[in-house]
Amino acid sequence: MRIAILGTGMVGRALAEGLAAAGHDVVIGTRDPDETMGRTEPDRMGNPPFPQWHAGHADIELAAQTDVGSDAEVVVNATSGAATLEALEAVGEEALGGKPLVDVANPLEFSTGRLALFTPSTDSLAERIQRTFPDARVVKALNTMNASVMISPSDLPGDHLVPIAGDDEEAKATVRSLLADLGWREEQVLDLGALTAARGMEAWLLLWIDLLQTLGTPQFNLSLSRR
Ligand SMILES: NC(=O)c1ccc[n+]([C@@H]2O[C@H](COP(=O)([O-])OP(=O)(O)OC[C@H]3O[C@@H](n4cnc5c(N)ncnc54)[C@H](OP(=O)(O)O)[C@@H]3O)[C@@H](O)[C@H]2O)c1
Repeated sequence: MRIAILGTGMVGRALAEGLAAAGHDVVIGTRDPDETMGRTEPDRMGNPPFPQWHAGHADIELAAQTDVGSDAEVVVNATSGAATLEALEAVGEEALGGKPLVDVANPLEFSTGRLALFTPSTDSLAERIQRTFPDARVVKALNTMNASVMISPSDLPGDHLVPIAGDDEEAKATVRSLLADLGWREEQVLDLGALTAARGMEAWLLLWIDLLQTLGTPQFNLSLSRR
């Protein structure tokens, strides 16, 4: 499957690596490929400069956000939440139309000194995307965990979960199949129903950040005890 991943950060890199390893034809979208390939400093999260990562993943194409959408069968949004709509505008409404759009981004707001969301509890970034691009088939997935867990679920014990939400059943089926390619077992995928469930999935980040600080590692994930 031809998959366009918007995002050169740790999530875009991880998903590109995982999906390419599963046999998909992956292109990463960036604002300016020449500028991105000229980077020599670690990014703001301390990840190695993109060209250093790309040297070990030469099979993964890098292209402008404006060029990746038209021949992609699936688009993955792994851009910073604040930049997401701008990045998707660059891909273009027409190119996004009719395709599963996997939204991994979170609406994080850092200005207050403590992590917050820039969407109210009556909305979500995923719903904003769906309203802005009504012909895209938005599925929220994978935003609830660290990038390394996304592509190596078996590194954590037990039936830890990947919630998904979206209004289009066919698009969710495509996402389930991509999750299986990344190593997620069927019983680990928890379909929360309509895209409105993205509100809770994004709000989980408020607890996730406290868990990160308390546990001292991002290598954990959501798991439920139930009858
Ligand atoms: N880090 C994690 O483990 C994790 C886990 C779950 C969810 N998430 C979410 O996943 C998303 C990606 O996270 P990340 O840490 O990999 O990367 P990030 O630093 O949050 O985002 C990097 C990407 O955003 C793009 N971007 C930034 N400003 C832009 C603008 N004005 N217009 C268009 N694109 C712009 C960058 O484009 P260029 O390529 O042009 O620089 C880059 O590709 C975020 O929403 C994050 O909250 C992260």
